[in-house]
Amino acid sequence: MIQTNFLVIGSGVAGLTFASKIAQALPEKTVTIVTKADEEESNTKYAQGGVAVVLDMKEDSFQKHIQDTLVAGDGLCNPEVVEMVVKKGPKRLKELMAWGASFDIDASGKLELGKEGGHSEHRVVHHKDLTGYEVERALLENLRRLPNVTILTYHFAIDLITEHHLEVPKSKQVFCYGAYVLDQKTGDIITVKADSTLLATGGIGHVYGHTTNPVIATGDGIAMAYRAKAEIRDMEFVQFHPTALYTVKEGPSFLISEAVRGFGAILRDKNGHRFMPDYDERAELASRDIVSQSIDNELKKSGDTSVFLDCTHLDIDQFKRHFPTIYKECLANHIAIETDWIPVVPAAHYLCGGIVVDKDGRTSINNLFACGECSRTGLHGANRLASNSLLEALVYAHNIYKYHVSHPTDSLSIAIPEWNDEGTRIPKEHILILHNLKKLQALMRDYVGIVRSNDRLAKAVLHLDLIYKEVEELYKNSKVTTTLCELRNMINVAHLTIGQSLKRKENKGGYYNIDNNTAS
Ligand code: FAD
Ligand code: SIN
Repeated sequence: MIQTNFLVIGSGVAGLTFASKIAQALPEKTVTIVTKADEEESNTKYAQGGVAVVLDMKEDSFQKHIQDTLVAGDGLCNPEVVEMVVKKGPKRLKELMAWGASFDIDASGKLELGKEGGHSEHRVVHHKDLTGYEVERALLENLRRLPNVTILTYHFAIDLITEHHLEVPKSKQVFCYGAYVLDQKTGDIITVKADSTLLATGGIGHVYGHTTNPVIATGDGIAMAYRAKAEIRDMEFVQFHPTALYTVKEGPSFLISEAVRGFGAILRDKNGHRFMPDYDERAELASRDIVSQSIDNELKKSGDTSVFLDCTHLDIDQFKRHFPTIYKECLANHIAIETDWIPVVPAAHYLCGGIVVDKDGRTSINNLFACGECSRTGLHGANRLASNSLLEALVYAHNIYKYHVSHPTDSLSIAIPEWNDEGTRIPKEHILILHNLKKLQALMRDYVGIVRSNDRLAKAVLHLDLIYKEVEELYKNSKVTTTLCELRNMINVAHLTIGQSLKRKENKGGYYNIDNNTAS
């Protein structure tokens, strides 16, 4: 048993920012971070484009960033949240820089601002095409200086502890008391008792298989919160990034940043036709829901496996300076961008919905908070504006820390039972886990992709039910393993995405169902 004041689940930008702030503000309190891989592995680490913030008050304004976010979100953003996040952005970025994160500077010595799809101005602060890596590095370095923070790597949170696990009378108010955590190296299950728990577990990309996300993105936090009966919304709004590098390899796809289109790259079909102006006057710089749906339409019409990003007309030296990682990755795939077009396809990238939180990051369960990609704040509506995710995590991590400082949580004296795995066995049939994972990913790709239909969604429900029953039976009889828990979580996420898709009767932003009206 571990007893801590603050339990933080996840070590991406959301978890690390909150942990740093609270540990610094309350040095007498303990902060325990559990994370299921090494400390830096996260979606954050792979973020390329940057952080959207208004810094250039001559050309840009808060109002323009607010408007761009609202337009991208297609009428479903919470305008108060949008205003709050946009206005707090510059301060949070400066704080990150004070912690040691460095961003590219232009010839006049100011922060260099990039442009991405859906943005009316240059406002994306970046560190070459490795922004997330730099953010993660700086946050971890800062955190290592704090004596009251412990990071437990290769520790997988299995489930939240709520009244459901306790022998106390059930009340209408549900409280969270921490989490059961699997030490992935020893196989032990630890009860982590916490006064306050933060879910910062990131996205769900792996549910689709074809994704820009690393394999850790299995929606664990959302599934845990769902099983604990927290409110979950907007799960139908899975954002597909338009330009993942097309290769025949399985597993996560390498991203060709939207900033490359901001730099002037053009989308073409295999015959060289520049098709984006046929769909939107902003062409390649339309918001990513529009670009992804347009590419999907082109591929369905042509039967081709990819479209192409043409960079051959760009200044290659400048390209290499801005995007060294993308340049190298293309070369490693035998694509010389000076002469070759880059084959690209849309891939699952980001979840706009998740665990419902208020402006202080509070979920519908007491003492349980959520931050970052696993949360649903109301900022993104039906489609996230590029580079608004790192921004959202920074702003909300700050709000959650502020809330805790002004509302101290009492230490808990309640007795919590240890994890009970009596009668379970070590699962021998790993093939069942792998087989069901492949089935789930194929189901989500083919039935719950960029363009949906009522018929395919209804069939998805039936197929998912079979997978669910087989995996639940395995789970009940098995000692828990990371892969089994992740699969179970991904099934929960798929269930939420399909169910909430079926409930949406109007197409909005990233959600497109051929049987719905598209009203704006
Ligand atoms: P993550 O960074 O994903 O961190 C989640 C953490 O939780 C990880 O440490 C993980 O190991 C841990 N975890 C998960 N489940 C468990 C569990 N059960 N137990 C213990 N630990 C667990 N956004 C932008 O704003 N700008 C960009 O330029 C940008 N580029 C992107 C490029 C790529 C390729 C990708 C994939 C995303 C990009 N995004 C970008 C999105 C953005 O990076 C993410 O939304 C954001 O970093 C999420 O941060 P997070 O802290 O919420 O989650
Ligand atoms: C990118 O660099 O294209 C990703 C930006 C984002 O997801 O916000």
